[in-house]
Amino acid sequence: MSTQTLKAPRGTFDILPDSATRREEVERVAREVLEAAGYGRIETPAFEATELFSRTVGEATDIVQKEMYTFPDAGGRSLTLRPEGTAPVCRAYVEHGMHKLPAPVKLYYVSSFFRYERAQAGRYRQFWQVGAEALGSHDPAIDAESIVLAHTLLDRLGARGLRLRLASLGSPAARSEYRVELQTYLRGKSDDLSDEVRRRIELNPLRAFDSDDPGTQRVMAGAPRLLDRLTPEDADHFYEVQALLMQAGVAFEIDPTLVRGLDYYTRTLFEFTSDALGAQSGVGGGGRYDGLVAALGGPPTPGIGWAAGVERILLAADAPPSPPPALDLFVAHDAARSQAFGTLLEARRAGLRAQMETTGRSLKGQLKHAERLGARYVAIVAADGIQLKDHRAATQEPVAFGQLIERLAATP
Ligand code: HAM
Repeated sequence: MSTQTLKAPRGTFDILPDSATRREEVERVAREVLEAAGYGRIETPAFEATELFSRTVGEATDIVQKEMYTFPDAGGRSLTLRPEGTAPVCRAYVEHGMHKLPAPVKLYYVSSFFRYERAQAGRYRQFWQVGAEALGSHDPAIDAESIVLAHTLLDRLGARGLRLRLASLGSPAARSEYRVELQTYLRGKSDDLSDEVRRRIELNPLRAFDSDDPGTQRVMAGAPRLLDRLTPEDADHFYEVQALLMQAGVAFEIDPTLVRGLDYYTRTLFEFTSDALGAQSGVGGGGRYDGLVAALGGPPTPGIGWAAGVERILLAADAPPSPPPALDLFVAHDAARSQAFGTLLEARRAGLRAQMETTGRSLKGQLKHAERLGARYVAIVAADGIQLKDHRAATQEPVAFGQLIERLAATP
């Protein structure tokens, strides 16, 4: 057997106790903000049938073309580690007949996702998202509510330099007419486009807005824009969403070039970025997906939602690590293992945060260790009784076995 040490796979990371505490804080605030707005927790499997993503996220997207961890299982089914959460939530909505529940059905998740992307700061191959999905309402108020909730969450977690970009993709019919118009425009300028954009004119012309190639950018500055081609109904819907966001005091910029890497979106589209982040500035994003549930075989059901990356939120918030939880009691002993263990169990049963010595330190070493752990009390256990040290009061006194909890309860 090779003795070479193994490392976590590229683009993944271990969550050690220090960062676990900060991540729990994200989850706690998410739960508080979302449950207060009627969202219930959902967790779906870490892998799904590959088809779920190819049919919804879109065959032509980067995610489906290059980034999925897809594998056959031993039964020969093609499975994929979930690259995102919206399609799985809609799959579960259909599978469990949730359209029979009173609408809107509001669901949130805090889960990990997998994308084979080039690893760099803020971009990982396994990453976590807080996501929120609301199914069953066309009302612009639910778009605005969803966006306000994302904003509240990011704001409460201290994400710095937040910006919100907003657009509308309109309905699928207007979008496909626009697509043809854009393709015609791009074909007419194909000499000035990057190779990649030129190759994708037929498959995914909208991605040209996302290109960082200067020639392409010049062409796109004069390109027709989807926002100018919305039907009156879609334009009204978009206008209402904006009015409600203004009412909520959430600042936004309209960005007609906003593109997101998922095909299921219709109408409202948005993205939060943070100036505190580098190249990977997207902290969270989402939009409407009014055709997704029907595409998965469910009844026509509108939907809107978003997801925010936990690692990016933490990078954008730059909060100091929280202190470790305090310790009530450290049980020190010198070979009186059984009595010490009994004392530990007794303290735990009484609801105290307690630890005992298990590594054979000298008594002096144990006292030092207790101090390092921030223990308020140390019980020095011997065969015939306990010496109780109170660090706050700087006292030490003998206590009989069985009297410790009573004695601790009596101190202020
Ligand atoms: P997304 O924009 O692909 O949307 O991802 C949402 C967020 O996940 C991003 O803004 C980013 O913070 C984080 N994220 C994405 N990829 C990575 C990565 N490789 N490393 C670290 N963080 C990452 C969605 O996934 C949609 N399902 C959002 C949605 C929900 N739309 C409607 N409902």
